[in-house]
Amino acid sequence: RLVANNAATWSAAVSGDPTARLLHSPWRESPYPIYERLRSSGPLVRSKLGLVTATTHETCRAVLRDRSMGVRPESGPDPLGELDELDLSLLKLDPPDHTRLRKLAAPAFRARRLAALRESVESIAHDLVDRATRRGEFDLMRDVALPLPIRVITALLDLRDVDTPTLARHGSALASSLDGVRGPRQLRAVRRADAAFHAMFTDLMEQRRRAPGDDVVSDLVHAHDDEQVTADELVALCRLLLVAGFETTVNLIGNGTLALLRHPEQWAALRDDPGLAPSAVEEVLRWDGPVQSSARIAHETVEIGGRRLRKGTLVLVLLGSAGRDPAAHSDPDRFDITREESEHLAFSHGAHYCLGAPLARMEGDLAFRVLADWLPNLTLAGRPRQRRTTVLRGLRTLPVASGAVP
Ligand code: HEM
Repeated sequence: RLVANNAATWSAAVSGDPTARLLHSPWRESPYPIYERLRSSGPLVRSKLGLVTATTHETCRAVLRDRSMGVRPESGPDPLGELDELDLSLLKLDPPDHTRLRKLAAPAFRARRLAALRESVESIAHDLVDRATRRGEFDLMRDVALPLPIRVITALLDLRDVDTPTLARHGSALASSLDGVRGPRQLRAVRRADAAFHAMFTDLMEQRRRAPGDDVVSDLVHAHDDEQVTADELVALCRLLLVAGFETTVNLIGNGTLALLRHPEQWAALRDDPGLAPSAVEEVLRWDGPVQSSARIAHETVEIGGRRLRKGTLVLVLLGSAGRDPAAHSDPDRFDITREESEHLAFSHGAHYCLGAPLARMEGDLAFRVLADWLPNLTLAGRPRQRRTTVLRGLRTLPVASGAVP
């Protein structure tokens, strides 16, 4: 983000600095060889950009679980984001506000609520795959990977009458701002999206106040009335749940389907035993996860991985590199859906561990199951195109042929 915002700084710094190269345009080349180079330089690598990069599973985990590492600077401007009004969500809060708000959001993902949703997720997956199949060749991103999580999260939040393409456009504008805002055009798109979500959720809160239901938004409105949360925090939380709910899962389904189709023996294994779908989900998360990095700021001088990080140090945490660390995963570059489970950091770790992980796992499981079951002869039908984002890794298009007899 620091780099992307300042082309001159970047071009001066990039020569010979793998972190700068990584942050500039990872969609042009695979980030994985760059991660390997960074890991070979050590577990914590100082970059010319003024930050430190955590490269191994162990150090990424240690940074994420250390209570002295926050997501906001204790004072002064935030090097991680200039759109302050967008930053009221959980991801950008430290305790005590983070603890208070996370407690309010957690019930949305209770096992009982998710179990009740499983049947609807399955029928949404069936419906989307069925429609797409009728076209013979289709774009898996547009027709399955994107609409599935949007329909699921709008069902969870009980949002009715939403226009999926508009939601997708606004969600993508907000998600791209995770990389920093690169100019007035992007800033306008982000502000438009922010205003649209603000209006949508303000309306919705009012509706649920008048007629509460058994849904997450009604619960949050109740908490607001008890003065546990301000109106702005509430809107920010709903927006995070909505956007985090589809901007990441779309990439789990897209990256996963691509990996499976590029490894036909793995696709065949899944087809023969759909019970492998949950371990396929874990392998995709480890091997080519939707969220490649996060960042933390040292609130105090700390020692991590035998190195002193001075107060104020900005640490880039390479979740994607942790997944390919040979010290944590044997033969880490091999994509193998039958792998014995080993801990990955694709959902982060510590205080900000992904709240939606059980939901994302369920969606990935059902998407892979339905695809393998209904479209056993699915093949690639063209070159997939990568999204131009850095923190999030995923595809813009994934052309496939269903192989089904029309
Ligand atoms: C946080 C990944 C799906 C809601 C996070 C973080 C990661 C992540 C890496 C923490 C970032 C950090 O530590 O700085 C993913 C991936 C997903 C996924 C890879 C899909 C495969 C979802 C879904 C939802 C969701 C479906 C909700 C519907 C959240 C929320 C947080 C979060 C609310 C903030 C937690 C906090 O800051 O305390 N996610 N996520 N995520 N995620 Fe997810």
